[in-house]
Amino acid sequence: MLAAIETPEALFRYRLALALGMERVAGERIAEFLAAAEGEPLRTALEAHLQDAREHAGNAEVVFDVMGWPLEAESCPALEAIADHGRVELRRADSKLADRVILDWAMQTAHFEVAVYEGLIIDGWALGMRTACRLLHESLDSERQALDRVATLASRIAAVGQVAEAERVAVPLRSSDPAVERAAEANRRARGAG
Ligand SMILES: [Fe+2]
Repeated sequence: MLAAIETPEALFRYRLALALGMERVAGERIAEFLAAAEGEPLRTALEAHLQDAREHAGNAEVVFDVMGWPLEAESCPALEAIADHGRVELRRADSKLADRVILDWAMQTAHFEVAVYEGLIIDGWALGMRTACRLLHESLDSERQALDRVATLASRIAAVGQVAEAERVAVPLRSSDPAVERAAEANRRARGAG
């Protein structure tokens, strides 16, 4: 039976252990999905996120040290469930959609990580753990940047896919539609057409 969590400090400490476990799981899953990624932009984004996960795990370890607590890591079933969902989608989706599937998995993972750090920092500030919170805020900012990177890339890849599909079925593009124009421009850039 798991030990009861009876104080806000014990809750913070448990969640810090969860954050450390989460970063370790994130690193393993990023490496797994990186192996399935096709496009170079996605591979670059995942490699950056893998490096981030190692740094965030390091930040959590330093917080344990700053607090004078022994290092603990909890398992993170939520992140494993998000990875399970990504694997199912990857199996079902056509290979040309694989990068979009992986990007959605990356966005869901980053959203969860952002939420974990936001909760930790809210509790940490209330408990006066300023040094710990500054370190955790570095990880939070980095998670938000990672989320922004993968969301931007997902928009670009989705737009390119839309234009490619429109061309395939010979649907004339309406140049008056700004969304179509943006997608066409993204498509031209992706093909190196300038
Ligand atoms: Fe992270």
